[in-house]
Amino acid sequence: MSVLVVHGSKRGGTQGLAEQIAAELHALGDDVRVEPARGVKRLEDAEAVVVAGGLYAGRWHKDARRFVRKHEQELAAVPVWLVASGPLDTSADDGALPPVEHVREAMERVHARGEVTFGGRLEPDATGFPASAMAKTKAGDWRNPERVRAWAATVHGDLAGQGAVPVR
Ligand SMILES: Cc1cc2nc3c(=O)[nH]c(=O)nc-3n(C[C@H](O)[C@H](O)[C@H](O)COP(=O)(O)O)c2cc1C
Repeated sequence: MSVLVVHGSKRGGTQGLAEQIAAELHALGDDVRVEPARGVKRLEDAEAVVVAGGLYAGRWHKDARRFVRKHEQELAAVPVWLVASGPLDTSADDGALPPVEHVREAMERVHARGEVTFGGRLEPDATGFPASAMAKTKAGDWRNPERVRAWAATVHGDLAGQGAVPVR
């Protein structure tokens, strides 16, 4: 399967997550392209799309939101999964977090097959306010590669028609 993974990422954490998802899909045999969401003009030959965006003040990154709006019709015609990356604690791993409103709206817009929230990352030397202030108490990496890999495997399984495996 040819899969396009796009990311809306301000500080690189969600980009890294998109690359982890892509690496797993590739390892499982998919043909994967990873792009910043705002750089994509057309979906071209993508048979499935994963849209990942960082969370800021409860909002899904604007590049992810715009990507969904801009490509709504093309996306509605292929399997789509939405990914949010944010919590700077273990909450994303402790149980499935409900999607933020933007992600819920995007789900409806393109009839997405699924959505997931993964932990985020904030580097200790983050610059700019309020990130630098937050970094004093919340810096860390909560992206959990194992869970990301397991989730990507469910996407691959679904695409390959093997049925989804629940994310732990
Ligand atoms: C100013 C600021 C606001 C944030 N707001 C949220 C939030 O509302 N919800 C959340 O889960 N994470 C929030 N985070 C954590 C980010 O989503 C996390 O750092 C994520 O990995 C950022 O993605 P990026 O590195 O791709 O930009 C916030 C981080 C910063 C710096």
